[in-house]
Amino acid sequence: MKIAVHGASGFTGGLVVAELARRGVPAVLVGRSRERLRETAGTEVRVATLDDPDALAAAFADCAAVVNTAGPFTRWGGPVLRAALAARVHYVDTSGEQGQIHDVLATAGPDAERAGVTVVPALADDGGPGDLIAALTAARVAPGREILVADLRAPGAASRGTARSMASIVARGPLEYADGGWRPDDGGHDPVVLPGERVEVASFPLPGVATVPRHVPAARVRAAMRADVVKLFGSFDPGAAELAPAVLDEATRRAGRWFMLARATGDGGTATGTVTGPDPYGLTAVIAVEGALRLARGEARPGALTPAQAFEPAGFLDALVPHGVAWRVE
Ligand SMILES: NC(=O)c1ccc[n+]([C@@H]2O[C@H](COP(=O)([O-])OP(=O)(O)OC[C@H]3O[C@@H](n4cnc5c(N)ncnc54)[C@H](OP(=O)(O)O)[C@@H]3O)[C@@H](O)[C@H]2O)c1
Repeated sequence: MKIAVHGASGFTGGLVVAELARRGVPAVLVGRSRERLRETAGTEVRVATLDDPDALAAAFADCAAVVNTAGPFTRWGGPVLRAALAARVHYVDTSGEQGQIHDVLATAGPDAERAGVTVVPALADDGGPGDLIAALTAARVAPGREILVADLRAPGAASRGTARSMASIVARGPLEYADGGWRPDDGGHDPVVLPGERVEVASFPLPGVATVPRHVPAARVRAAMRADVVKLFGSFDPGAAELAPAVLDEATRRAGRWFMLARATGDGGTATGTVTGPDPYGLTAVIAVEGALRLARGEARPGALTPAQAFEPAGFLDALVPHGVAWRVE
């Protein structure tokens, strides 16, 4: 069983290739530049550009799944997804781009079902754990009135790829889900109170608003991030993004932590779920590979699904525990 990694020459793509190697899974490295795609033991390089759909589909054809790490997905994601569907190969990506994730989930389902494959966007350290913990938290207080998905990580280092992606989404502004549909978030959040800490948060276009309403019958779903991190990401215009480091050195990468919270209010009271872990980019690679391998094993039905629709949430989060992840719902 081979797994294709599109964007394998990038920072996150390289970590995905390393995670596949750690698990002993052969990887097919796909991208636009042979020079930038470095073949290593257990890998094979295939060059295909985004404007050549036949070459892209041929590059994926004998693979069990594609992990797409070439962002901004708002710009580059469409051709890769279409090629995976044409090749009838499962697809996951590491997108954190709310609008693009929303569009994929809203439109790719029929083609995925016809192709008999599963498409799961947002399998990164925010969209994956955020959707899974929201499902587990909402289940405690069903039927849900309101869900907040919050990214509470402290400010930390971001790669150029992330900075470019943030620059591409902040201009579009955050959505919220209310009254059965998506609309611009009107802003304004109470601080999130944690044991020993009161965190100021602000609206941010996180994946959770695109994913959670698809499986939790909540009247309202909103997303927020630490206010100081929102300010940081808000400063990533396309020019400033180019100043971010292309690659984070290993010590910097491993020193980072990510922290997703879901708070659900329903007839049964309020429940809070948290999931946290180290090494945001390393864990993104672990999460994307875990998802791709589960799809390759046939664990999900065909369609365009959120992480929690595709995978049993507690089982998926438990699979991350050996990588330093901790989660709880109370
Ligand atoms: N949400 C999260 O929590 C999270 C976590 C990690 C990563 N991510 C996302 O993952 C993405 C990648 O981040 P990164 O830091 O790995 O970025 P990166 O190092 O810049 O890598 C980007 C990759 O995309 C490829 N690419 C760019 N433009 C292309 C084009 N026109 N045609 C074909 N390939 C193209 C690059 O290929 P070349 O080498 O040929 O330029 C490279 O392989 C970003 O969108 C980031 O936000 C999200």
